[in-house]
Amino acid sequence: MFKRFVEWMDARIPMTKTWNIHLAQYPAPKNFNFWYVFGVLAMLVLVNQILTGVWLTMNYVPSSEGAFASVEYIMRDIEYGWLLRYMHSTGASAFFVVVYLHMFRGMMYGSYQKPRELLWIFGMLIFLVLMAEAFMGYLLPWGQMSYWGAQVIISLFGAIPFVGDDLTLWIRGDYVISGATLNRFFALHVIALPLVLVILVFLHIIALHEVGSNNPDGIEVKKKKGTVDDAEKPKFKFHERFTKKYDIVDAIPFYPYYIVKDLVAIGIFLFAFCYVIFFNPEMGGFFLEPPNFEPANPLKTPEHIAPVWYFTPFYAILRAVPDKLFGVILMFAAIVMLALLPWLDRCKVRSVRFRSALHKVNLTVFAISFIVLGYLGTQPATPTATRIAQIFTLLYFGFFILLWFYSKREKTKPLPERLTS
Ligand code: HEM
Repeated sequence: MFKRFVEWMDARIPMTKTWNIHLAQYPAPKNFNFWYVFGVLAMLVLVNQILTGVWLTMNYVPSSEGAFASVEYIMRDIEYGWLLRYMHSTGASAFFVVVYLHMFRGMMYGSYQKPRELLWIFGMLIFLVLMAEAFMGYLLPWGQMSYWGAQVIISLFGAIPFVGDDLTLWIRGDYVISGATLNRFFALHVIALPLVLVILVFLHIIALHEVGSNNPDGIEVKKKKGTVDDAEKPKFKFHERFTKKYDIVDAIPFYPYYIVKDLVAIGIFLFAFCYVIFFNPEMGGFFLEPPNFEPANPLKTPEHIAPVWYFTPFYAILRAVPDKLFGVILMFAAIVMLALLPWLDRCKVRSVRFRSALHKVNLTVFAISFIVLGYLGTQPATPTATRIAQIFTLLYFGFFILLWFYSKREKTKPLPERLTS
Protein backbone atom coordinates (compact mmCIF):
# COMPACT_ATOMS: atom_id res chain seq x y z
CA MET A 1 0.00 0.00 0.00
CA PHE A 2 2.85 2.35 0.90
CA LYS A 3 4.58 1.62 -2.43
CA ARG A 4 1.37 2.38 -4.30
CA PHE A 5 0.97 5.62 -2.36
CA VAL A 6 4.55 6.68 -3.23
CA GLU A 7 3.95 5.86 -6.91
CA TRP A 8 0.73 7.86 -6.86
CA MET A 9 2.55 10.83 -5.34
CA ASP A 10 5.57 10.54 -7.68
CA ALA A 11 3.31 10.68 -10.70
CA ARG A 12 2.06 14.05 -9.47
CA ILE A 13 4.97 15.67 -7.58
CA PRO A 14 8.72 14.81 -7.70
CA MET A 15 8.75 13.41 -4.16
CA THR A 16 11.19 10.47 -4.45
CA LYS A 17 13.34 12.39 -6.94
CA THR A 18 13.75 15.38 -4.60
CA TRP A 19 14.37 13.11 -1.64
CA ASN A 20 17.11 11.27 -3.55
CA ILE A 21 18.80 14.32 -5.07
CA HIS A 22 18.84 16.41 -1.91
CA LEU A 23 19.15 13.80 0.78
CA ALA A 24 19.47 10.07 0.23
CA GLN A 25 21.81 10.10 -2.78
CA TYR A 26 23.41 13.53 -2.36
CA PRO A 27 27.11 12.81 -3.05
CA ALA A 28 29.10 14.13 -0.09
CA PRO A 29 32.92 14.10 0.03
CA LYS A 30 34.02 11.19 2.18
CA ASN A 31 36.42 13.16 4.38
CA PHE A 32 33.91 15.36 6.24
CA ASN A 33 35.08 15.87 9.84
CA PHE A 34 33.17 17.07 12.91
CA TRP A 35 33.17 20.67 11.62
CA TYR A 36 30.61 19.53 9.06
CA VAL A 37 27.86 18.77 11.57
CA PHE A 38 26.96 22.34 12.46
CA GLY A 39 24.79 22.96 9.37
CA VAL A 40 22.49 20.13 10.36
CA LEU A 41 22.55 21.28 14.00
CA ALA A 42 21.57 24.80 12.87
CA MET A 43 18.59 23.26 11.08
CA LEU A 44 17.64 21.33 14.19
CA VAL A 45 17.77 24.49 16.31
CA LEU A 46 15.72 26.37 13.71
CA VAL A 47 12.97 23.74 13.96
CA ASN A 48 13.17 23.89 17.77
CA GLN A 49 12.81 27.68 17.75
CA ILE A 50 9.82 27.62 15.42
CA LEU A 51 7.98 24.88 17.30
CA THR A 52 8.58 26.20 20.83
CA GLY A 53 7.91 29.74 19.55
CA VAL A 54 4.46 28.77 18.25
CA TRP A 55 3.55 27.22 21.61
CA LEU A 56 4.89 30.17 23.60
CA THR A 57 2.82 32.54 21.43
CA MET A 58 -0.33 30.72 22.55
CA ASN A 59 0.02 32.22 26.03
CA TYR A 60 2.25 35.24 25.55
CA VAL A 61 0.56 38.67 25.68
CA PRO A 62 2.22 41.20 23.33
CA SER A 63 1.46 44.39 25.24
CA SER A 64 3.58 46.54 27.54
CA GLU A 65 1.06 45.93 30.35
CA GLY A 66 0.80 42.17 29.92
CA ALA A 67 4.09 40.90 28.46
CA PHE A 68 6.21 40.45 31.61
CA ALA A 69 3.38 38.88 33.62
CA SER A 70 2.47 36.54 30.75
CA VAL A 71 6.02 35.19 30.64
CA GLU A 72 5.85 34.57 34.42
CA TYR A 73 2.47 32.88 33.87
CA ILE A 74 4.02 30.62 31.22
CA MET A 75 6.88 29.79 33.62
CA ARG A 76 4.72 29.03 36.66
CA ASP A 77 1.19 28.07 35.62
CA ILE A 78 1.20 26.65 32.10
CA GLU A 79 1.96 22.94 32.09
CA TYR A 80 5.53 22.49 30.90
CA GLY A 81 5.56 26.22 30.09
CA TRP A 82 8.96 26.49 31.80
CA LEU A 83 10.27 23.78 29.48
CA LEU A 84 8.99 25.56 26.37
CA ARG A 85 10.48 28.83 27.49
CA TYR A 86 13.87 27.38 28.42
CA MET A 87 14.00 25.41 25.17
CA HIS A 88 13.41 28.68 23.32
CA SER A 89 15.82 30.85 25.32
CA THR A 90 18.55 28.18 25.29
CA GLY A 91 17.84 27.60 21.59
CA ALA A 92 18.61 31.26 20.85
CA SER A 93 22.11 30.95 22.32
CA ALA A 94 22.62 27.48 20.83
CA PHE A 95 21.74 28.92 17.42
CA PHE A 96 24.60 31.38 17.62
CA VAL A 97 27.05 28.80 19.01
CA VAL A 98 26.44 26.47 16.06
CA VAL A 99 26.25 29.24 13.46
CA TYR A 100 29.54 30.83 14.61
CA LEU A 101 31.26 27.41 14.44
CA HIS A 102 29.62 26.75 11.06
CA MET A 103 30.94 30.07 9.72
CA PHE A 104 34.43 29.47 11.12
CA ARG A 105 34.51 26.08 9.41
CA GLY A 106 33.77 27.92 6.13
CA MET A 107 36.67 30.27 6.84
CA MET A 108 39.09 27.45 7.65
CA TYR A 109 38.37 25.42 4.55
CA GLY A 110 37.79 28.33 2.15
CA SER A 111 34.20 27.22 1.54
CA TYR A 112 33.31 30.77 0.46
CA GLN A 113 35.66 30.67 -2.53
CA LYS A 114 34.52 30.18 -6.13
CA PRO A 115 32.04 28.63 -6.97
CA ARG A 116 30.43 28.97 -3.51
CA GLU A 117 30.24 32.78 -3.26
CA LEU A 118 26.45 32.90 -3.50
CA LEU A 119 26.12 30.13 -0.92
CA TRP A 120 28.25 32.26 1.43
CA ILE A 121 26.18 35.38 0.70
CA PHE A 122 22.97 33.50 1.51
CA GLY A 123 24.69 32.43 4.73
CA MET A 124 25.55 36.04 5.57
CA LEU A 125 21.95 37.11 4.90
CA ILE A 126 20.81 34.32 7.23
CA PHE A 127 23.24 35.65 9.85
CA LEU A 128 21.86 39.22 9.53
CA VAL A 129 18.24 38.08 9.76
CA LEU A 130 19.15 35.85 12.70
CA MET A 131 20.63 38.81 14.55
CA ALA A 132 17.49 40.90 13.87
CA GLU A 133 15.32 37.98 14.98
CA ALA A 134 17.25 37.55 18.25
CA PHE A 135 17.29 41.30 18.94
CA MET A 136 13.52 41.63 18.50
CA GLY A 137 12.80 38.46 20.47
CA TYR A 138 14.80 39.84 23.37
CA LEU A 139 12.41 42.81 23.78
CA LEU A 140 9.38 40.53 24.15
CA PRO A 141 9.73 39.47 27.85
CA TRP A 142 9.71 43.22 28.62
CA GLY A 143 12.34 42.97 31.37
CA GLN A 144 14.80 45.68 32.34
CA MET A 145 17.51 44.46 29.97
CA SER A 146 14.99 43.95 27.15
CA TYR A 147 13.94 47.55 27.47
CA TRP A 148 17.31 49.21 27.95
CA GLY A 149 19.15 46.98 25.49
CA ALA A 150 16.65 47.93 22.79
CA GLN A 151 16.96 51.57 23.89
CA VAL A 152 20.75 51.53 23.37
CA ILE A 153 20.69 49.70 20.03
CA ILE A 154 17.81 51.63 18.46
CA SER A 155 19.35 54.95 19.53
CA LEU A 156 22.47 54.00 17.51
CA PHE A 157 20.53 54.72 14.33
CA GLY A 158 20.18 58.28 15.62
CA ALA A 159 23.89 58.79 14.84
CA ILE A 160 23.21 58.59 11.10
CA PRO A 161 23.38 62.16 9.70
CA PHE A 162 20.18 63.87 8.48
CA VAL A 163 17.80 60.89 8.74
CA GLY A 164 18.93 59.50 12.14
CA ASP A 165 16.19 60.99 14.32
CA ASP A 166 13.39 60.18 11.89
CA LEU A 167 14.73 56.68 11.47
CA THR A 168 14.73 55.91 15.22
CA LEU A 169 11.20 57.30 15.47
CA TRP A 170 10.14 55.09 12.57
CA ILE A 171 11.69 51.97 14.12
CA ARG A 172 10.21 52.59 17.58
CA GLY A 173 6.83 53.81 16.33
CA ASP A 174 6.90 56.20 19.27
CA TYR A 175 9.15 58.80 20.89
CA VAL A 176 10.25 56.25 23.46
CA ILE A 177 10.26 52.46 23.45
CA SER A 178 6.66 51.59 24.21
CA GLY A 179 3.85 49.14 23.60
CA ALA A 180 3.88 50.22 19.94
CA THR A 181 7.50 49.09 19.63
CA LEU A 182 6.69 45.83 21.39
CA ASN A 183 3.77 45.14 19.00
CA ARG A 184 5.80 45.61 15.84
CA PHE A 185 8.76 43.64 17.20
CA PHE A 186 6.34 40.85 18.08
CA ALA A 187 4.89 40.78 14.54
CA LEU A 188 8.36 40.75 12.99
CA HIS A 189 9.76 38.19 15.44
CA VAL A 190 6.86 35.77 15.15
CA ILE A 191 5.91 35.95 11.48
CA ALA A 192 8.01 38.05 9.10
CA LEU A 193 11.58 37.16 10.05
CA PRO A 194 11.08 33.40 10.61
CA LEU A 195 9.49 33.27 7.15
CA VAL A 196 12.48 35.07 5.60
CA LEU A 197 14.83 32.80 7.56
CA VAL A 198 13.20 29.61 6.32
CA ILE A 199 13.24 30.87 2.71
CA LEU A 200 16.92 31.83 3.02
CA VAL A 201 17.86 28.44 4.49
CA PHE A 202 16.03 26.78 1.57
CA LEU A 203 18.02 28.89 -0.93
CA HIS A 204 21.23 28.18 1.02
CA ILE A 205 20.73 24.42 0.59
CA ILE A 206 19.71 24.72 -3.07
CA ALA A 207 22.86 26.77 -3.75
CA LEU A 208 24.98 24.21 -1.86
CA HIS A 209 23.57 21.29 -3.79
CA GLU A 210 24.05 23.05 -7.11
CA VAL A 211 27.82 23.41 -6.63
CA GLY A 212 28.37 20.50 -4.22
CA SER A 213 29.99 20.52 -0.78
CA ASN A 214 33.52 21.67 -0.18
CA ASN A 215 35.57 19.53 2.25
CA PRO A 216 38.47 19.80 4.73
CA ASP A 217 41.03 19.43 1.92
CA GLY A 218 39.36 22.17 -0.11
CA ILE A 219 39.85 20.32 -3.39
CA GLU A 220 37.14 19.25 -5.80
CA VAL A 221 36.15 15.61 -5.42
CA LYS A 222 37.36 13.54 -8.33
CA LYS A 223 34.70 12.97 -10.93
CA LYS A 224 35.55 9.73 -12.69
CA LYS A 225 33.16 7.51 -14.56
CA GLY A 226 33.42 3.82 -13.77
CA THR A 227 32.98 3.82 -9.99
CA VAL A 228 35.80 3.14 -7.51
CA ASP A 229 39.14 1.50 -8.27
CA ASP A 230 39.45 -2.20 -7.48
CA ALA A 231 41.62 -1.60 -4.42
CA GLU A 232 38.94 0.67 -3.03
CA LYS A 233 36.06 -1.66 -3.70
CA PRO A 234 33.85 -1.76 -0.63
CA LYS A 235 34.69 -4.75 1.53
CA PHE A 236 31.12 -5.40 2.57
CA LYS A 237 28.04 -6.12 0.50
CA PHE A 238 26.31 -3.50 2.62
CA HIS A 239 28.53 -0.72 1.27
CA GLU A 240 28.33 -1.99 -2.27
CA ARG A 241 24.59 -1.57 -2.18
CA PHE A 242 24.98 2.15 -1.61
CA THR A 243 28.11 3.03 -3.54
CA LYS A 244 28.02 0.96 -6.71
CA LYS A 245 26.12 3.58 -8.68
CA TYR A 246 28.64 6.29 -7.83
CA ASP A 247 30.61 8.03 -10.56
CA ILE A 248 32.30 10.40 -8.13
CA VAL A 249 35.21 8.50 -6.67
CA ASP A 250 35.74 10.48 -3.47
CA ALA A 251 32.09 10.96 -2.57
CA ILE A 252 29.66 8.75 -0.69
CA PRO A 253 25.86 8.99 -0.58
CA PHE A 254 24.39 11.03 2.24
CA TYR A 255 22.25 8.06 3.24
CA PRO A 256 23.25 6.07 5.24
CA TYR A 257 26.76 7.40 5.91
CA TYR A 258 26.22 11.01 6.90
CA ILE A 259 22.76 10.45 8.32
CA VAL A 260 24.42 8.15 10.89
CA LYS A 261 27.27 10.57 11.52
CA ASP A 262 24.86 13.50 11.95
CA LEU A 263 22.73 11.47 14.34
CA VAL A 264 25.76 11.02 16.60
CA ALA A 265 26.34 14.78 16.53
CA ILE A 266 22.66 15.43 17.24
CA GLY A 267 22.87 13.06 20.22
CA ILE A 268 25.89 14.86 21.68
CA PHE A 269 24.30 18.24 21.01
CA LEU A 270 21.09 17.21 22.76
CA PHE A 271 23.08 16.14 25.83
CA ALA A 272 24.58 19.63 26.11
CA PHE A 273 21.26 21.29 25.24
CA CYS A 274 19.36 19.30 27.89
CA TYR A 275 22.05 19.96 30.46
CA VAL A 276 21.50 23.72 30.04
CA ILE A 277 17.70 23.48 29.97
CA PHE A 278 17.38 21.25 33.03
CA PHE A 279 20.35 22.24 35.18
CA ASN A 280 21.60 25.65 34.16
CA PRO A 281 19.02 27.57 32.10
CA GLU A 282 20.44 30.99 32.91
CA MET A 283 23.99 29.81 32.16
CA GLY A 284 25.56 32.10 34.73
CA GLY A 285 23.63 35.11 33.41
CA PHE A 286 24.87 34.65 29.84
CA PHE A 287 21.73 33.09 28.35
CA LEU A 288 19.20 34.84 30.60
CA GLU A 289 20.51 38.02 32.19
CA PRO A 290 19.68 38.82 35.87
CA PRO A 291 18.24 42.35 35.22
CA ASN A 292 15.65 40.75 32.94
CA PHE A 293 13.93 39.17 35.93
CA GLU A 294 12.71 42.68 36.81
CA PRO A 295 9.90 44.25 34.74
CA ALA A 296 10.91 47.05 32.35
CA ASN A 297 11.06 50.41 34.11
CA PRO A 298 11.57 53.43 31.85
CA LEU A 299 12.52 55.52 34.92
CA LYS A 300 15.34 53.29 36.16
CA THR A 301 18.41 52.64 34.00
CA PRO A 302 20.30 49.46 34.97
CA GLU A 303 23.83 50.10 36.20
CA HIS A 304 25.48 48.17 33.39
CA ILE A 305 23.76 47.57 30.05
CA ALA A 306 25.19 44.80 27.89
CA PRO A 307 23.60 42.85 25.06
CA VAL A 308 23.40 39.06 25.14
CA TRP A 309 26.79 37.33 24.62
CA TYR A 310 26.33 36.64 20.89
CA PHE A 311 26.21 40.36 20.08
CA THR A 312 29.09 41.37 22.33
CA PRO A 313 31.99 41.08 19.81
CA PHE A 314 30.26 43.66 17.63
CA TYR A 315 29.18 45.73 20.64
CA ALA A 316 32.82 45.86 21.85
CA ILE A 317 33.87 47.21 18.42
CA LEU A 318 31.14 49.87 18.68
CA ARG A 319 32.29 50.96 22.14
CA ALA A 320 35.98 50.92 21.19
CA VAL A 321 35.44 53.95 18.96
CA PRO A 322 34.99 57.30 20.72
CA ASP A 323 32.90 58.80 17.89
CA LYS A 324 29.36 57.36 17.86
CA LEU A 325 28.79 57.52 14.11
CA PHE A 326 32.19 56.03 13.30
CA GLY A 327 31.57 53.32 15.90
CA VAL A 328 28.27 52.39 14.24
CA ILE A 329 29.95 52.33 10.81
CA LEU A 330 32.77 50.13 12.10
CA MET A 331 30.33 47.76 13.78
CA PHE A 332 28.46 47.21 10.50
CA ALA A 333 31.77 47.06 8.62
CA ALA A 334 32.79 44.13 10.85
CA ILE A 335 29.89 42.15 9.35
CA VAL A 336 30.32 43.47 5.79
CA MET A 337 33.96 42.34 5.84
CA LEU A 338 32.84 38.77 6.48
CA ALA A 339 30.40 38.99 3.56
CA LEU A 340 33.21 40.21 1.28
CA LEU A 341 35.51 37.28 2.11
CA PRO A 342 35.03 35.52 -1.28
CA TRP A 343 36.56 38.57 -2.94
CA LEU A 344 39.09 39.58 -0.28
CA ASP A 345 40.71 36.15 -0.32
CA ARG A 346 42.50 35.90 -3.67
CA CYS A 347 44.33 32.64 -2.99
CA LYS A 348 43.77 29.71 -5.38
CA VAL A 349 44.07 27.20 -2.53
CA ARG A 350 41.04 26.91 -0.27
CA SER A 351 41.86 24.88 2.82
CA VAL A 352 44.00 26.16 5.68
CA ARG A 353 45.67 22.70 5.59
CA PHE A 354 47.61 23.67 2.47
CA ARG A 355 47.99 27.38 3.04
CA SER A 356 50.93 29.40 4.33
CA ALA A 357 51.99 29.75 7.97
CA LEU A 358 51.10 33.44 7.69
CA HIS A 359 47.51 32.55 6.84
CA LYS A 360 47.32 30.06 9.69
CA VAL A 361 48.55 32.71 12.15
CA ASN A 362 46.24 35.36 10.67
CA LEU A 363 43.17 33.13 11.00
CA THR A 364 44.10 32.16 14.57
CA VAL A 365 44.57 35.81 15.56
CA PHE A 366 41.16 36.57 14.02
CA ALA A 367 39.49 33.84 16.08
CA ILE A 368 41.21 35.04 19.27
CA SER A 369 40.21 38.66 18.57
CA PHE A 370 36.58 37.62 18.12
CA ILE A 371 36.56 35.81 21.47
CA VAL A 372 38.40 38.59 23.34
CA LEU A 373 36.08 41.23 21.88
CA GLY A 374 33.13 39.05 22.87
CA TYR A 375 34.39 38.94 26.45
CA LEU A 376 35.13 42.68 26.58
CA GLY A 377 31.63 43.45 25.29
CA THR A 378 30.17 41.84 28.41
CA GLN A 379 32.33 43.96 30.76
CA PRO A 380 31.94 47.61 31.85
CA ALA A 381 33.81 50.00 29.53
CA THR A 382 36.71 51.03 31.80
CA PRO A 383 39.60 52.94 30.13
CA THR A 384 41.82 49.80 30.17
CA ALA A 385 39.07 47.61 28.73
CA THR A 386 38.44 50.18 26.00
CA ARG A 387 42.14 50.31 25.11
CA ILE A 388 42.32 46.51 24.86
CA ALA A 389 39.13 46.51 22.75
CA GLN A 390 40.75 49.02 20.40
CA ILE A 391 43.78 46.78 19.92
CA PHE A 392 41.63 43.73 19.20
CA THR A 393 39.38 45.73 16.87
CA LEU A 394 42.51 46.55 14.87
CA LEU A 395 43.47 42.86 14.84
CA TYR A 396 39.93 41.89 13.75
CA PHE A 397 40.02 44.22 10.74
CA GLY A 398 43.73 43.47 10.22
CA PHE A 399 42.78 39.89 9.32
CA PHE A 400 40.78 41.01 6.29
CA ILE A 401 43.21 43.69 5.14
CA LEU A 402 46.28 41.45 5.45
CA LEU A 403 44.42 38.62 3.73
CA TRP A 404 43.75 40.79 0.69
CA PHE A 405 47.43 41.67 0.41
CA TYR A 406 49.14 38.33 0.92
CA SER A 407 46.54 35.92 -0.51
CA LYS A 408 47.38 36.68 -4.15
CA ARG A 409 51.01 35.64 -3.84
CA GLU A 410 50.74 33.19 -0.98
CA LYS A 411 53.24 30.32 -0.74
CA THR A 412 50.97 27.28 -0.52
CA LYS A 413 51.66 23.56 -0.23
CA PRO A 414 51.06 21.36 -3.30
CA LEU A 415 47.47 20.11 -3.46
CA PRO A 416 46.85 16.35 -3.46
CA GLU A 417 45.16 14.72 -6.45
CA ARG A 418 42.59 12.98 -4.28
CA LEU A 419 41.13 13.55 -0.81
CA THR A 420 43.78 12.82 1.80
CA SER A 421 41.84 11.32 4.66
C1 HEM B 1 20.10 29.01 10.03
C2 HEM B 1 21.36 29.00 9.75
C3 HEM B 1 22.03 28.02 8.81
C4 HEM B 1 21.64 26.77 8.44
C5 HEM B 1 20.41 25.99 8.88
C6 HEM B 1 22.66 26.26 7.55
C7 HEM B 1 22.63 25.00 6.96
C8 HEM B 1 23.66 24.45 6.24
C9 HEM B 1 23.80 23.05 5.90
C10 HEM B 1 22.78 21.95 6.32
C11 HEM B 1 24.93 22.89 5.20
C12 HEM B 1 25.49 21.57 4.67
C13 HEM B 1 26.15 20.82 5.83
C14 HEM B 1 27.38 21.49 6.37
O1 HEM B 1 28.26 21.79 5.57
O2 HEM B 1 27.44 21.75 7.58
C15 HEM B 1 25.54 24.19 5.06
C16 HEM B 1 26.71 24.46 4.38
C17 HEM B 1 27.32 25.71 4.30
N1 HEM B 1 26.92 26.86 4.96
FE1 HEM B 1 25.29 27.04 6.13
N2 HEM B 1 23.62 27.22 7.36
C18 HEM B 1 23.29 28.32 8.12
C19 HEM B 1 24.00 29.49 8.24
C20 HEM B 1 25.17 29.79 7.53
C21 HEM B 1 25.93 30.99 7.67
C22 HEM B 1 25.60 32.14 8.63
C23 HEM B 1 27.00 30.90 6.80
C24 HEM B 1 28.12 31.88 6.53
C25 HEM B 1 27.99 33.11 6.36
C26 HEM B 1 26.91 29.62 6.12
C27 HEM B 1 27.79 29.16 5.16
C28 HEM B 1 27.82 27.86 4.66
C29 HEM B 1 28.81 27.34 3.72
C30 HEM B 1 29.98 28.13 3.10
C31 HEM B 1 28.50 26.00 3.51
C32 HEM B 1 29.25 25.00 2.61
C33 HEM B 1 30.37 24.43 3.43
C34 HEM B 1 31.21 23.43 2.70
O3 HEM B 1 30.73 22.79 1.77
O4 HEM B 1 32.41 23.34 3.08
N3 HEM B 1 25.79 28.97 6.60
N4 HEM B 1 24.75 25.12 5.72
